[in-house]
Amino acid sequence: MIWDKFSRVYDLVENSFNGKVNEDFSSKVAGMINSSDEVLECACGTGIISEKIAPKCKLIVATDYSEGMLQQIRKKCAKFRNITFHRVDIMQLPYNDASFDKVVAGNVIHLLDKPQEAISELCRVCKDGGKVIIPTYVAPHRSKSVSWFLQLLRWLGFDFKRTFTYEEYKDFFRSMGYDGVEYTISNGRMPCAIAVLKKDVFSQLLAAQAYGISWMMS
Ligand SMILES: C[S@@+](CC[C@H](N)C(=O)[O-])C[C@H]1O[C@@H](n2cnc3c(N)ncnc32)[C@H](O)[C@@H]1O
Repeated sequence: MIWDKFSRVYDLVENSFNGKVNEDFSSKVAGMINSSDEVLECACGTGIISEKIAPKCKLIVATDYSEGMLQQIRKKCAKFRNITFHRVDIMQLPYNDASFDKVVAGNVIHLLDKPQEAISELCRVCKDGGKVIIPTYVAPHRSKSVSWFLQLLRWLGFDFKRTFTYEEYKDFFRSMGYDGVEYTISNGRMPCAIAVLKKDVFSQLLAAQAYGISWMMS
């Protein structure tokens, strides 16, 4: 898998190209976490976000489907006693409904064939009144350095299913019927937009109706 091959140099490449944005968006996500929170992070990668969340929460379960990425995060986050690591596909989370106060999935939505189904899974395992936090890199203004970087990644074998602008990212959630989503953005070379979905039964039912998601209706 491409993420296994790339895992050892992920931080070097990411932070050379986009370190300021990564520092800013991961700090913003950590600012949304409370000390009593039990957190699930999906697609945690090397732990750029997890490293910031772990000192702020009661416990964090960090998951990714790449064993290579998990090896990197295990090293980076070995200093924390409240973190566990599981190899898990975001499309099929092996957790009960309403298990976590906060569910985080950073920079993965644009990689998935069926992102709507992944978001439904994230909402399923989030407690009522909890939050699903979804940061995703967005294209700034079709800048040359970003197009060049994306082309290079595609050439290396990374399979991006789509890229969003900030407005397209908001439209994506609107089109699924998610109501009352809050957004913030970390600006820089490759900006990162953070969508925060509050899980309450009413808004999830609307989303389910708009998108025909069955678990919410059963
Ligand atoms: C761009 S990296 C983001 C890592 C981290 N969240 C961050 O923001 O630095 C994308 C990550 O998503 C993971 N990933 C991709 N598809 C996945 C899936 N279906 N289930 C779980 N993880 C997945 C990859 O293994 C990789 O670690």
